[in-house]
Amino acid sequence: MKELTQKTQVTLLEAMLDGSKVGTIVTDPSQHDNPIIYTNKTFIEMTGYTQEEVIGRNCRFLQGPGTAKEDIQKMKEAIADEKKVILTLQNYRKDGSPFWNRLAIEPVRIEDKLYFIGTQTDITLERSQQQAIMANEDEIEKLMLPILSVQENVATVALVGTMNLQRFETLKVKICEYVQEHRIEHAIIDITGLSWNEKSPLYWFTQIYEALRIMGSNLYVTGISPAAAQQFANDLDRDSRLITFSTIERALNFITQKTASENHIS
Ligand SMILES: Cc1cc2nc3c(=O)[nH]c(=O)nc-3n(C[C@H](O)[C@H](O)[C@H](O)COP(=O)(O)O)c2cc1C
Repeated sequence: MKELTQKTQVTLLEAMLDGSKVGTIVTDPSQHDNPIIYTNKTFIEMTGYTQEEVIGRNCRFLQGPGTAKEDIQKMKEAIADEKKVILTLQNYRKDGSPFWNRLAIEPVRIEDKLYFIGTQTDITLERSQQQAIMANEDEIEKLMLPILSVQENVATVALVGTMNLQRFETLKVKICEYVQEHRIEHAIIDITGLSWNEKSPLYWFTQIYEALRIMGSNLYVTGISPAAAQQFANDLDRDSRLITFSTIERALNFITQKTASENHIS
């Protein structure tokens, strides 16, 4: 760059900025209301305004009803403190359509004069893709943990597929949330359709049992063969009162009888 004339350097740099996917503006805080003094072409294409319409104006014209007040405040404070700020906020194009703007504002001093450089990236597409992925993951998680309230105070979860530690942790959190939210007294986890990645997974259920016990609820595990139930009993502490059944139906009968006898006593 050194051998090039200043004019050529500026032209090249401008061409680089115009070819970039990132909108770039420069503002001059020594002028009233910190107006824009330069924009690259990308900013113009991104916002739909012409150069003439934006030069000399404060950049807040991009804001609208969906722009978060806290973000405006953050920018105001950072600019006053001459600090760099990076945030993602909702802005609006000239035609009124909204877009998500990943914005960085940075103070720059050149020969003792302060300027601010703003770089804007339209991340609307990435954001909507990310939201679609998150919604999808939520849906998959729900499908993997279908919690049903079969009768008042009783919830069942029929687990299918392969259980691993991560899925088990999700199950633990979801079931606790569900029990608390719906005031469930008896939770049944049916493992008929389940296969295991780990060696002694039934032991994990005692963790859910303990968590639910603290919340005043009971846990039953169903879909266990008699041999597995025997193995399970051997694996567990003698104190553990986690009850297993071969079928959900048997667990429900047990709960009905238990509730009836408790009501009878009280
Ligand atoms: C260099 C620079 C770039 C800016 N770019 C944007 C932008 O893209 N979108 C936006 O909503 N605000 C942007 N702002 C912030 C506004 O211009 C203004 O500073 C902000 O709304 C806070 O001030 P106010 O409360 O007086 O409006 C930018 C500010 C500077 C200094």
